[in-house]
Amino acid sequence: MAIKAEEYGRRRQRLMEMMEPNSIAIIAAATEQLRSNDTYFPFRQNSDFYYLSGFAEPDAVLALIPGREQGEFVVFCRDKDPEKEAWDGYRHGPEGVCQQFGADDAFPVDDIDDILPGLIEGRTRIYYAMGRDKGFDRQVMDWVNTIRSNNHAGAAPPGEFQELDHLLHELRLYKSAAEVKLMHKAAKISAQAHIEAMGVCKPEMYEYQLEATLHYHFAMAGARCPAYNTIVGAGANGCVLHYVENSKKMKASELVLIDAGCEYQYYAADITRTFPVGGRFSPEQKAIYEIVLKANQAAIAEAVPGNHWDKPHEVSVRIITEGLVELGLLEGDVDQLIEAAAFRRFYMHRVGHWLGLDVHDVGDYRVDDQWRLLEPGMVMTIEPGIYIAPGDDSVAPKWRGIGVRIEDNVAINKNGNTVLTEAAPKTVAEIEAIMAGNIL
Ligand code: GLY
Ligand code: MN
Ligand code: MN
Repeated sequence: MAIKAEEYGRRRQRLMEMMEPNSIAIIAAATEQLRSNDTYFPFRQNSDFYYLSGFAEPDAVLALIPGREQGEFVVFCRDKDPEKEAWDGYRHGPEGVCQQFGADDAFPVDDIDDILPGLIEGRTRIYYAMGRDKGFDRQVMDWVNTIRSNNHAGAAPPGEFQELDHLLHELRLYKSAAEVKLMHKAAKISAQAHIEAMGVCKPEMYEYQLEATLHYHFAMAGARCPAYNTIVGAGANGCVLHYVENSKKMKASELVLIDAGCEYQYYAADITRTFPVGGRFSPEQKAIYEIVLKANQAAIAEAVPGNHWDKPHEVSVRIITEGLVELGLLEGDVDQLIEAAAFRRFYMHRVGHWLGLDVHDVGDYRVDDQWRLLEPGMVMTIEPGIYIAPGDDSVAPKWRGIGVRIEDNVAINKNGNTVLTEAAPKTVAEIEAIMAGNIL
């Protein structure tokens, strides 16, 4: 199921084909982040580095050097060290990286300052992630200066520095069949976890207890970690877009909004479902919910090849504006309200984002100053919402503190799209049946 060695090789090849002649690309692994004395935050490899190598260790740098006779794919990594491995775990070491990850050449990372300048020398252009990490920026300049200081010996430092993101992220935007398969698996695991959360939810439980249910089911299905911090927001907490405290006791009369997805073999799922803690929607909750559901379904129908990136968003804006007018939460002419962006008081984010190795995945949304067209291989979220602030005294009290978002993951293909998250129930009838204990 995992991405095969040949696919990593193809990715490197394609990137090298996009690079200018006589250039080098340098990509650093993620570094471990200290939490407190001797304790680190969970390590997660940098997605660009992983995409090109499948290598998940920290303290590594990879270089792609098209046309280099002794090999184009060079890795610097931690050396084997039995004592350190006894404390911190297995290291592949340079030899292991050549054997298992297809590197043509590999060296201990401790020797990088002696070796890498020699690999850069004579190349006219360096591609790297400029300005993202001050330490790495400085390192690149140090390597270039090392070459410069040898200038009297005829060494030529590169004169051009270019952002690597533009090339690499364009590749990452188009998912292969193997990638979509992994994302589908991530989505199915996450959908099942949402069903489990609906099944166990009871009034007086704490939000973090639902979070624990989701994470337990991720892990039991083979996905150890969430792809981002899980949001479980009951009542007015559902109106806080990035609520992650998850600390409140939930009441029967409230909706709970859960935004949670697992990471499966490095690929993210990103699902939001909103359901009543007590098992039945109130008339007001249902009215808002049905508008968001209609916007979700209509936007998914527009996430097809040939439509521009903004089309699903435009459709969601129209349906939400019409719905809010019908309920009396907005007043006026729908076209004028859209023109004036009146919906933003209740729907303040966009309908979605790219999804992949990162939850907010890479790739440009505009090309040549136009919204880009959707194409097969792109994977995006569709996640309209309506959030009525608890303190919004411009609306009747019965509406206040209702927050609803419904988020699915959609893979564009030549026939239209596949909804990767379709196993996560979202109609009122389905949700109420699950919560009543009736098996669907
Ligand atoms: N979970 C983050 C998002 O929905 O964009
Ligand atoms: Mn989400
Ligand atoms: Mn999302």
